[in-house]
Amino acid sequence: MPSPKVLAPQPGIGAVLFDAYGTLFDVHSVALLAEQMAPGQGQALSLLWRDKQIEYTRLVTTSKKGPRGDSVYLPFWELTCASLRYACKRLGLDLDQGQQERLMNQYRHLSTYPENREVLQALKSRGLRTGILSNGDPAMLAVAVKSAGLDDLLDHVISVDAVRTYKTDPKAYALGEQATGMPAAQIAFVSSNAWDALAATWYGYATVWVNRQGMPFEELGTQPLYSGPSLHAVLQALPPA
Ligand code: LAC
Repeated sequence: MPSPKVLAPQPGIGAVLFDAYGTLFDVHSVALLAEQMAPGQGQALSLLWRDKQIEYTRLVTTSKKGPRGDSVYLPFWELTCASLRYACKRLGLDLDQGQQERLMNQYRHLSTYPENREVLQALKSRGLRTGILSNGDPAMLAVAVKSAGLDDLLDHVISVDAVRTYKTDPKAYALGEQATGMPAAQIAFVSSNAWDALAATWYGYATVWVNRQGMPFEELGTQPLYSGPSLHAVLQALPPA
């Protein structure tokens, strides 16, 4: 697996912000239910659904409507519903509304990665502030955090909905600085989405890329500060307790 250069642990970090979907919550945990509904197509549906969801965030972030340039922003929940509808049509799956609602309900309560709690606890015990900085809208994030039982370990749950734009718009990344009152260089930003880790690095965060699938990083000339196969990578990026 190609790995970015590992630097010395970063001093001066005061907060750690996590991407949510894919990083703390397993977006592909819907594949099992999808497989029951569409045998042989569960994984394809899950992958296409996720890709389309991210594509839609980019589409609404980079587009405007009409001569006044009105925003075409839609909350993440609506983009997630729309991308599921698209993925079903694209794959020729005849899932009725009830089935699609069940999949969406599953999306509300995604499985979490097993190391989440331990890593968050370790960060808290080092006196660091913790939080989420996500494309998810506030209602989705509140349910996901609560059903994962992580509420007591997160100081901030920051949704880009506050600025009605999506990562990788710098306005979205700026919310992390505003919420913590710290400059990006003093905040570790953790994401399993390579594009998110890259854009956050460009923005100025001390980034940790969680590479669970052994994928190559983006080939655009900038590397995250750290990477590793699980959330534990963030602990290695920080000076020992
Ligand atoms: C998020 C998406 C990008 O949580 O995974 O922001």
